Amino acid sequence: MPIALDHPYHQELLVATLAVKRASNLTKKLSDSIVNTQNSGTQTKDDKSPVTIGDYASQAIINHAIKKSFPLDEIVGEEDSESLQGDSEEAKRLSSKILDIINEEQSNNPLEILGNLEDLPSVFEAIDLGNSKGGSKGRFWALDPIDGTKGFLRGDQFAVCLALIEDGKVVLGVIGCPNLAENIESNEDQTGIKGGLFSAIKGVGSFYTPLFDTEDFIPLKDQEKITMKQHSSPDSLKVVEGVEKGHSSHSTQSQIKEKLGFSAETVVKQTINLDSQVKYCVLAKGQADIYLRLPISDSYREKIWDHAAGNVLVYESGGLVGDIYGNELNFGNGRLLESKGVIAGNKAVFKSVITSVKEVLKL
Ligand SMILES: *[C@@H]1O[C@H](CO)[C@@H](O)[C@H](O)[C@H]1NC(C)=O
Repeated sequence: MPIALDHPYHQELLVATLAVKRASNLTKKLSDSIVNTQNSGTQTKDDKSPVTIGDYASQAIINHAIKKSFPLDEIVGEEDSESLQGDSEEAKRLSSKILDIINEEQSNNPLEILGNLEDLPSVFEAIDLGNSKGGSKGRFWALDPIDGTKGFLRGDQFAVCLALIEDGKVVLGVIGCPNLAENIESNEDQTGIKGGLFSAIKGVGSFYTPLFDTEDFIPLKDQEKITMKQHSSPDSLKVVEGVEKGHSSHSTQSQIKEKLGFSAETVVKQTINLDSQVKYCVLAKGQADIYLRLPISDSYREKIWDHAAGNVLVYESGGLVGDIYGNELNFGNGRLLESKGVIAGNKAVFKSVITSVKEVLKL
């Protein structure tokens, strides 16, 4: 079925895509530069400033673009500019780097529709547009300017994630994955061009196109429509999980896979560890089937910007997403999700994953 050009949220998708592409371009350069300087020994692993610069610059670019086209929309963004506005030398150094790198992107590829950030006060102002409290009524955007900080610092997986939420439901998601390979089979076997752009619109579908092959917006009808595979045999299922142990309970995840019938010999090959919402992208593309993120503590609550764009992407590619009880996530609860953990799967397997989760966690 051809995708009509006049699908809903056409203008929102256009602006979101171009802004995410610009931010992905900028963050990719920073991530590459970290790896290069680490290899040459001039920068230590503890130097977090590239990620700080990238986070703020990405949020400034995207917020500014949203404000220009949709002045009434609020934004729930991860960052605020308070620490940048201080008088310390460090704050001044970071701020001027942020402005430089934004200027570089703007002059490399000027785009009227995204607008221009000309000075530091407008950069701070743009960052602080991300202060919305969210909520269950009306529409707002949720932004993670660099999702997957640890992956970013390793030169590995990270993502720029933007979602539009209406009355607590995600209706549009755009994710730029600068380091994601086209073909993902296992942790070792990842090939093809790097950089993927994933988009989803509620009721329209999920789509993939290479992130860096053009600066232009590619209409959805010319992108690849992506879907999950509907299968449930533990011999062929693949699971995506985080890399960082602190983000999720890995040992419980192993027990769940055992319950689902994965064989001890092959379970490692069937598990793909990826930072950030890149996991949702790999699911949506049908390269994996199950996503496990168990709560690390009773009190921990997920942030909405860590899951919003990926949520619509999975639903629109034929999957389901829930908390550890299998209940849908509610994005209208403020800046945090009220629910515990996140589980996603294709429709053929989701129910049995939830059953296994409940058994292992004794819910
Ligand atoms: C990415 O950066 C390059 C130069 O480094 C530039 O030519 C290109 O236009 C940029 N792409 C986007 C989407 O801004």
